[in-house]
Amino acid sequence: MNKILKAVLPIAGLGTRMLPATKNLPKELLPVFDKPMIEYAIKEASEAGIEDFVFITGKDKEVLQDYLNKKYLSDYTFGLENRPTKTKILKKNDLKPYNITFVRQEEPLGLGHALLCAKNIIGSEPFCLILPDMLPKGDPGCLSQMLEAYNTNKGNVIGLEKIPMEDTYKYGIVKISNKKNNVCKIDNMIEKPRPENAPSDLMIMGRYILQPEIFDILEHQNPGHNNEIQLTDALITLTKTQKFTGMIFDGKTYDCGDKLGYLIANIKYSLDGETNNPDIRNTLLNLMQTLEG
Ligand code: G1P
Repeated sequence: MNKILKAVLPIAGLGTRMLPATKNLPKELLPVFDKPMIEYAIKEASEAGIEDFVFITGKDKEVLQDYLNKKYLSDYTFGLENRPTKTKILKKNDLKPYNITFVRQEEPLGLGHALLCAKNIIGSEPFCLILPDMLPKGDPGCLSQMLEAYNTNKGNVIGLEKIPMEDTYKYGIVKISNKKNNVCKIDNMIEKPRPENAPSDLMIMGRYILQPEIFDILEHQNPGHNNEIQLTDALITLTKTQKFTGMIFDGKTYDCGDKLGYLIANIKYSLDGETNNPDIRNTLLNLMQTLEG
């Protein structure tokens, strides 16, 4: 079996739903509570065993390259060696010794086109595709859950999550069969259908394990929804010849490319785990009472 070691992370999007914050700041650097959004994706992937990260970048993303510069992070930031607590925070969030490649997407022609930019670097191996503005909160992480499904089913695996029917127009939606527990067969997909045309209420939630044959299809893919080269259209073609498994994520995904999703993610992460802070909880509860009163 091929171990999955490479991940592609498209970060070339213009972040238009988050304007004006994203006017010239990459949305992937916006903090979710106390860490930039991108760090959650990196942590999730490295916990799943990913060693090679391929970022598809675009306009105004250079600052993200500096952020991901490991040496700069650990040794040179603001002379923090004299301030032990701050150094500890950076070290804790520090990035493992993995390999990073940046590929420039010259024009924003869609997710399918962004992925195609990684063709030569990925080569002939299966790989993960991670959309970092979709933030899945779960334990184990979403990609780790998906790898378990991949090890049993091989082929291609797509992360899925139930959403309210009225939101189907925002996401790729799947048609499934043979559902057993959280795993199912994907029969078809449609990009951003209106609720009346949606085959289910299961969205493609931004995590994929794909076979390299997707690149041959993407090379000939015509523009689809929104006149963009859609990954979903290429995936539909690949379903004709390869197995597609859906894994319903055991957790909750926050759409951080959207102002409401981003706000909720900030609240959830501020209340959880290591960051759990009673002052924040109490302040939020008081705020709720003020709103109700
Ligand atoms: C892309 C995919 C879509 C998926 C979504 C998740 O859309 O095309 O199928 O549901 O990501 O965020 P985009 O957000 O690039 O419009």
